[in-house]
Parts: sequence; structure tokens; C-alpha cells
Amino acid sequence: MHLSLSTAILLLATAGANAFLDGAQRDPTPRSWDEAYHMAHDLVNQMSLEQKINITTGAGWEKTLCLGNTGATTNPDFPSLCLQDSPLGVRWADNVTAGVAGITAASSFDKKLIRERGIYMGKEFRGKGIHMQLGPSVDIMRSPYSGRLWEGAGEDPYLSAVYGVETVLGIQSQNVVATAKHYIGNNQELNRNTESSNIGDRALHEIWTWPYARMVDAGVGAVMCGYNVVNGSHDCENDYILNTVLKGEMGFRGLVMSDWGATHSTVESANGGLDMTMPGDVVMGEGGSYFGKNLTDAVHNGKVTEERVTDMAVRIVASYYKLGQEKGFPKTTVNSFHRDRAPYVNVQGHHARIVREIGAASIVLLRNENKSLPLSTHDHKKIAVIGSDAGPVPGGINSCQDRACHNGTIAIGWGSGTVDFPYLITPKDGIERRVNGAAKVVHTYNDWDTDAAAKMARDADVALVFAGSNSGEEYIIVDGNNDRKNLTLWHNGDNLIKAVADANQNTIVVIHSVGPVLMPWIDHPNIKAVVWAGLPGQESGRSLADVLFGDVNPSGRLPYTIARNKEDYNIKLDPSEDIDYNEKLLVGYKWFDQQNIEPLFEFGYGLSYTKFNYSKVKLQTNGKDSDVILKAKVSVMNTGDVDGAEIVQAYISFPDSAGEPPKLLRGFEKLKLKKGASDDVFFDFDKVDLSIWDDESHQWTVPSGKYTIHVGASSRDIRASASFTL
Ligand code: NOJ
Repeated sequence: MHLSLSTAILLLATAGANAFLDGAQRDPTPRSWDEAYHMAHDLVNQMSLEQKINITTGAGWEKTLCLGNTGATTNPDFPSLCLQDSPLGVRWADNVTAGVAGITAASSFDKKLIRERGIYMGKEFRGKGIHMQLGPSVDIMRSPYSGRLWEGAGEDPYLSAVYGVETVLGIQSQNVVATAKHYIGNNQELNRNTESSNIGDRALHEIWTWPYARMVDAGVGAVMCGYNVVNGSHDCENDYILNTVLKGEMGFRGLVMSDWGATHSTVESANGGLDMTMPGDVVMGEGGSYFGKNLTDAVHNGKVTEERVTDMAVRIVASYYKLGQEKGFPKTTVNSFHRDRAPYVNVQGHHARIVREIGAASIVLLRNENKSLPLSTHDHKKIAVIGSDAGPVPGGINSCQDRACHNGTIAIGWGSGTVDFPYLITPKDGIERRVNGAAKVVHTYNDWDTDAAAKMARDADVALVFAGSNSGEEYIIVDGNNDRKNLTLWHNGDNLIKAVADANQNTIVVIHSVGPVLMPWIDHPNIKAVVWAGLPGQESGRSLADVLFGDVNPSGRLPYTIARNKEDYNIKLDPSEDIDYNEKLLVGYKWFDQQNIEPLFEFGYGLSYTKFNYSKVKLQTNGKDSDVILKAKVSVMNTGDVDGAEIVQAYISFPDSAGEPPKLLRGFEKLKLKKGASDDVFFDFDKVDLSIWDDESHQWTVPSGKYTIHVGASSRDIRASASFTL
């Protein structure tokens, strides 16, 4: 490829800044921040104080076409920007795609597919004329009870960062601003508007803000501050987390918007780093605003400088220019509050194919005795499909408010992180279509009549028993849950599974769940396979059938730890108003590793229909000051009898003196290998990967001493390790 000298210099310059991103991944937006700021200053300099404030102030709940709209200005002209949920697709709209949830995309551990998901979502938002997508969510799963954990990417900051970066790059490649949320400490629904998440500075940097730093490097245009309080100050007026960490240390140049109704002041918010209040009113739907006239008055009273207001407006306008939205951006055609009045614009394209593919790639095979899977219509002439989680939603797919259903297959959770289904292929439909008459499929959706379920299971060649666990956002309660009131399967699931397993020696359990569940039946000798099917969206049944029948060899991995006992988790829901993050760095598998607690299925775990062998790890160290401090290489061979894909994972143990958990994920690659084939995987580790936050000097530092790199198939299935000293 021929590059001009200036382009080559630019590429070299950005390489250092975006060390987390490899060559192919850099910021795909039309403009750099510098160019966008230049243009934004030109425009905003022509605006009066009131005009500037107008574009920082949402126009009010239910007053506009979108879930949020900014005020417009004329002379100079700047349009009203449309902001719309959700992290998995266009909410409150028709003719859109209902794809896999964030947690399910993350469990693919497949960067390419996560990017493609971001790209198709970006296309759909752009197609509907939406300027900002309110996602991705990267709320790290502090506790398995958190109601919204399924909107994010699980318990690990590195995985969350990769998921966040790939999603942002995908969305923003389509001229739509991505919004990273909810910054930060918004980790349970209980008391979400009032509780203070009290987080020490080291964990704040190494865990809770870590994915945001990577997304800032990737050029994310917007960040949403959360409902909660952090260390005594509301997220959306928290000078330390917004001004010092996000805009200062990370160098974020986009805009900070409030979550809906999460602004609590005028002066503190404006000075604390909030750039846009959403949806605008003080209390949603009740009018007035902390910004608008109140902000104008604050400037006139000298409590907020006009310079600060200019900065707010510039950040908003700059994100618009950075994404190239001034040219040919489609007219807004969603109508959130009057859906029947929205013009017909179908943005679905062929996106269902990607949903099906990522759905299958995300399925985690937890157990497979005696090669019970894949199924074949030769050996399995009669297939029993049992459980309401295999069937349709009784009242219709979109009959429950924001998908808060009791019944039917679980394909996404509930709340603002959802979309309306255009259709939903149930597991039973997917299996029936795949079998296509070559085997008989019988079914029952009655979870309570275990005798009937057992009878049906008894005379089938294989019994597939389905169960699930659901959760969602605070404003809707389903059977006592928004956060999860327990980790037990819903709808008599455990009894149903046991009854079916007692009746059929070839029982396969399929689970759709927002997060970990307890599995009291796991050692039942008749349960031959367990399939963790996540939250697969509209293509649920087809993605599942692809894996059950071996058209796709499973390669998904758990993005969280499934514990043997609920007591093994260190973090429960906390009802107090002061939630001290006493676990410090021991979130998720790091706690289990540190305490030597054997999980049922560990973080990063997942089986394949084939087997992989790992070579030894070869290391090359370049010294602390190099861009790439360490390179690791491992060869992996498919030694089984079918083609497949391995998720090769790299964990790091820091020198003892660093005070880190036993090991941290710092790299993974999906390697597709034909049977008998082998290939090399390379991991580069830079300062970002090898730094810890030093509380005393208040900076990132690469500790000196002995490190170990562990490469393997999960956090506990380490196949090769090698040490080096820095
Ligand atoms: C509240 C949710 O916390 C946030 O994620 C969402 O984007 C807004 N509501 C708008 O619906």
C-alpha cells in the first residue's frame, strides 16, 4: 500500500496512543478530534450564551421524537440531536433487529463478530436518523444478582474493554455516536438513585474505569454518567470521576450526558463535568430543567463560567462533526411515544444472519459426556423438547412492557436495554426447522406437570429440557425481581430437569439466563450435556440448532464464574446507602482464585466438539520502555476429528510485590482450525497491560519483578506458562 509521508507519520503517532488497538482496529470515524474541535469552535463561537445552553439541555421527556433530543439553534444552525436506546438495537421502533444481549456477545470472545454486531447496529441507528446510540453498557458484573448484568460484558475489565472497544468501533464506523455507560459504580438496581458506591482509587482505575479508558482511546463520542453516587458525590456532578479521571487522565474529548433523570443540580453538575442533561427536565415529565434558564442564571451570577458552557457545547458539536453527521445524515424517523406515527423505514438488512452467527458462536457448551452432542437425525428419531423456555411468549412476543415477561423462552432481559422483537424463533421452532421432518419432535411447555414431562421424556431418543432465569431494570418488577432475588432457575426449573433426567438416560439441559444459576442437578448421571445458550435475541432457535446438530462447533466461553454454591460469591446485593467496595481488586474469578474456591464452571470455560493441544509459550521481552514490552507466542493444534475454533486466552501474574490478584486476563484470540491443523497465536503486551495504579504516586506504573504469562483454554485450564523479569 502506498502511503503519503504525512499519513504514515499520523499512523505512527496514533499507534502509540492506541496501544490497546491493533493495526486494523483504529478509530474509523471521518475526523480526528482535533479537526472536529476546530469545526466545533468555529460554529459555537457564533452562538449566544442561550444558544449554547440550548444544545446542552434535553427538550424534555415525551416532548420529542426520540427518548432524548437536544435543543436546536438557528443562525447559526445546529440540529436537534436524537438519542435512543439500547445497547442491543433500536428501542421503541419497528422494522429493526433484536440481536443478542451484550453478555451473550461477550461470551463469543470473538472480536470480529462483536465488531460486526456494532456495525449492523450502527447501520440501523443511522438508518432511523438517530445521532447517538445509548450503548454499549460496560457495567462490570460485580455481583451475580445485579439485574442489568446482561446488558454488559461480564465480570472482567479486559473482556469488557474488548467488547466495548469493538462495539464502539463498529457503531461509530456508521457515523453514529456510541455512548459508553453507566459511568461508574452503577452495579445494582437496589437503591440505584441514592446509594454511594465507595470505591478505592486503585480499584476505580484498574477495574471500574478501565474499559472506559480503552474506549476513549478508540474515540468514543459520548459517556453516560449513572444514577448512583460514587464516594459521596452523584456520578453526574462528580468532579473527580468526570473532570479528573475521564477528561483529565484519560483525555476524553467527547460529551458526558446524564442518565435519564440523573442530574441533581445546576452549578455542581456544570462545574463537575456534566455536558448534557437528559432528557432535560428536573423530574422526568414534569418540566423545568437544571440546565436551560437555570444554567443561564448561574452564568450571570458568576457561579459557572461562560467558558465552561462553551466547552460543553463544543464537546457536543465536536462529536457530531467527528462522526461526519453534518453531511447526508438521514432524517429522524423514530417516534418513541407515538409508534404508530413513525414512518415506515426498514433497517433490518441481512442483519439476522449476523445475529444467528453470533448467537451460535456465543453458546457455551458446559458439559458433553460420551459425545452426546452433536445430535443427528440418524440416531435421534424422536426428540422431546420440554419446558416453557423452549416455547413462545403466551401473549405475543412484545406483549410485556419492555420485555418483562414471566413466560416463554428468554431471549433478552427487560428494561430500557431492550428492543421490540420483529419475530422470535423459539428453540422448539429452530429444532423443528433443522430436523425438517427427518425426526419426530414432541414437546410440552408445562413446567409444573413433571409427570407428563417425564412420560414424554421416557419414550424419546433424546430429551432436551429447557429452563431459564431472567432479570431487568428497576422500574419493572417481575415476580419480585428486577435485581435477581436468587440464582435459582425460574418456573420449577430444577424439578423439571430432575424429573426429565430421571426418565431419560440421554438428557440434555439447555439454559437461557441473564447470569449464573445454581445447578443442584449437575451430577445427575443421565444429564449428558449442558448447553449455556445465553440471551440470543430473535434468532434464538436457529443459533441453538446450529450448535445442537453440529453445523457450528461451539466455541463460546463464560464471561463470568458459575459457582458451586451461592455462598461462594463474595458480593451480594447491598441494601445499605453506603456500599463499600471492600473486595478491592477481587471481582469475579479473581476472588475465587485468591481464596482457592473451586467454581462449578470457571471464567473463560467452554467445551468444543474437538480437542486442542497447546505448545510451550515462547516469550520475547523488549524492556519496560518499549511500546511492546513483551511478545508471547504459542502454537495450537486441532487434534480432534472435526473442524473447530479455540479461544486461546492469556493471563498474567504480576510480581508478588504488586499486590495483584493471582492472575488477570490480558489477551485472547479466536483461532479457527481445521481438524489436524495448527497455527500460531501471538500476544503483545504493552504498558496498559502491565501497569498497576499506584495509589501513592497517583499514576500508572509497571512494577519491577517476576511476571508469569499463562496461556490456556480458560482461567483454570492453563496449558502453558512462562516467566520473565522486568
Ligand atoms: C435509564 C437507563 O439507566 C439508561 O441505560 C437508558 O439509556 C435511559 N434510561 C434511557 O432510557
